Amino acid sequence: MAAAISVSLLLVAIISGSCPSFTSAKPPAPPVFCDDSGCVVSNAYGVWADRQQCRTGLAVFPTTEEELRAAVAEAHRKRFKAKAVSGFSHTIPKLACPPPENSVVISTAKYNSRIEVDVANRRVTADAGVGLRDLIDKVEAAGLSLLAAPYWEGVSIGGLISTGSHGSSWWGRGGAVHDHVESLTLVVPAPAEEGHAKVVTLRRGDPLFNAASVSLGLLGIISQVTLSLEPSFKRSITYSFQNDSSFEDQFMDHARKHEFADITWFPSQHQAAFRLDDRVPLNTSGDGFNDFIGFQSTLMAVSMAVRATEKAFDESRNAKGKCATAATVLAFKKLMANGLKNNNLLFTGYPVTGRHGRMQTSGSCQHSPVSDGLSSCPWDPRIKGLLFYETTAFFSPQSFRSFILDVKRLRDMNPDNFCGVDNYNGFMIRFVKRSESLLGQPEDSVVVDFNYYRASDPSIPRLNQDLWEEVEQMAFVKYGARPHWAKNRNVAFLGVQGKYPGFKRFLAAMKELDPEGVFQSPWSDEVINEKEAVKSDGCALEGQCICSEDRHCSPSKGYLCQNGLVYEEARVCRFANVSMV
Ligand SMILES: Cc1cc2nc3c(=O)[nH]c(=O)nc-3n(C[C@H](O)[C@H](O)[C@H](O)COP(=O)(O)OP(=O)(O)OC[C@H]3O[C@@H](n4cnc5c(N)ncnc54)[C@H](O)[C@@H]3O)c2cc1C
Ligand SMILES: *[C@@H]1O[C@H](CO)[C@@H](O)[C@H](O)[C@H]1NC(C)=O
Ligand SMILES: *[C@@H]1O[C@H](CO)[C@@H](O)[C@H](O)[C@H]1NC(C)=O
Repeated sequence: MAAAISVSLLLVAIISGSCPSFTSAKPPAPPVFCDDSGCVVSNAYGVWADRQQCRTGLAVFPTTEEELRAAVAEAHRKRFKAKAVSGFSHTIPKLACPPPENSVVISTAKYNSRIEVDVANRRVTADAGVGLRDLIDKVEAAGLSLLAAPYWEGVSIGGLISTGSHGSSWWGRGGAVHDHVESLTLVVPAPAEEGHAKVVTLRRGDPLFNAASVSLGLLGIISQVTLSLEPSFKRSITYSFQNDSSFEDQFMDHARKHEFADITWFPSQHQAAFRLDDRVPLNTSGDGFNDFIGFQSTLMAVSMAVRATEKAFDESRNAKGKCATAATVLAFKKLMANGLKNNNLLFTGYPVTGRHGRMQTSGSCQHSPVSDGLSSCPWDPRIKGLLFYETTAFFSPQSFRSFILDVKRLRDMNPDNFCGVDNYNGFMIRFVKRSESLLGQPEDSVVVDFNYYRASDPSIPRLNQDLWEEVEQMAFVKYGARPHWAKNRNVAFLGVQGKYPGFKRFLAAMKELDPEGVFQSPWSDEVINEKEAVKSDGCALEGQCICSEDRHCSPSKGYLCQNGLVYEEARVCRFANVSMV
């Protein structure tokens, strides 16, 4: 998920009548920029995990499957490396980045015209570059619904399935979109006599299908995706805010009882918001929609002020300051039902009932009509807005319970230290069902997602960074959680191959479809080959390594490499030099 930027300043903006969601927005900048010296590929945050630019010599923008095939053929013939990137580029790890030399980026930004709904068979086929919102609107107009979707709609169909993106459901086929794919076509390298590249079709049940349904862009370029659909329905949503004393014993029951259940835990506030979210018949009254607060268009001045305040608290080590804003954020979310609206404008009361297609995913900050230069998504890199890390981990239900108990122990040592995460969206807890995809979830899983402050300068340690490192290592090391492919800092991927029973078969599929490694690059290798980078000074500050010596932290600023407080095997950078205060 992302930042819920609703700190007191935003309240002020709303009370004074300039409600940010009513203004038109500055849409996100396109991710590929070329000039005479070559091309730069960015993600939507304007910064990759390692903060280094992604450079390549060439970018192409095919508009049809044949142009896509020709682009792959040309790359293969010239022995170039290639990577696909969508017109959105909302992925945090540098998966879409090719090596700098002899490489090409193939953008699907303009390959987005076809969305074909097959009403009789309840299916939709779309070009890989089609945006999720466009697809959903077309499907709903035909009287059908796409069951699963990530909560953020600013993604392409090809890009979202490539990283295993998900919403929340343990019911039916579950909350991950790739588990609703029926077939896809893939453009892969081919021998010269076959024209250097070819299109292969893979259907559910085919031997390579389970490798291709979540493929990180490593098997070739997805051209078209066919998804299964259901007759349209509505959803009825209520947030129930409760104290957090026993939610670790309730989450499984909650997920079994409600088809689209989720939970947001605000540890510093001792609160958990249970989302009671169920399917209701289409003739139920209500035309509500979900305009999630964190994805609403925000006045740039507000985003910058919120960031400046957060930065000032962080740099002056003012945990209490962060707590004051965390309490305001939670009160605001309760008041605004987290962005649910009973009609186009307002929240008037629970339950909020509306069409599935308007409840499942949102992102109003990126497609308001015209650029007025005043508002944008709160993380837009063109302003000094929000900058954060996002850690996302998939657990078995049993280990998730133990993880929460550990985090609570850490929280109870000093709840104020957890206010930073509650200024964003707390711990967002969702449910993803077991998948046959080799890089999908091998068991029914609980996925937790949290955002936290990232400094503008990589050498500046952060307030309570030791706690976030400890929580991260608890998740990925102690409890063996699996990292979301599209999120996380590099350390989350250590040991990832051993966490997927199908990993070897995925690597075999890679060899089979792309024997010469056209789609490989050092950046995607960092994710799947799980080698820890050479440990340089300060590498632990940005999650490029786990510290083992003080120099991996920032001894000159008083941050030393120490053990965890609850998970003692953890190695974290802690502010230890009291004389430096
Ligand atoms: C605000 C926000 C909220 C989010 N919320 C959620 C959420 O609720 N749930 C969730 O699971 N995720 C969420 N995400 C993550 C998001 O779903 C993924 O990052 C997704 O992969 C982005 O899709 P994209 O089209 O931007 O792909 P890109 O970032 O462009 O690409 C992602 C990967 O797919 C590859 N790729 C792209 N297109 C193709 C293609 N045609 N063929 C082969 N490979 C391709 C790229 O090479 C790259 O490896 C969120 C992200 C943001 C920014
Ligand atoms: C939390 O709520 C439960 C009821 O839902 C109640 O029994 C319990 O006393 C509450 N705990 C705290 C600490 O308020
Ligand atoms: C909705 O339709 C069903 C039959 O399809 C009917 O039984 C029910 O009464 C209707 N409900 C409303 C609220 O109109």
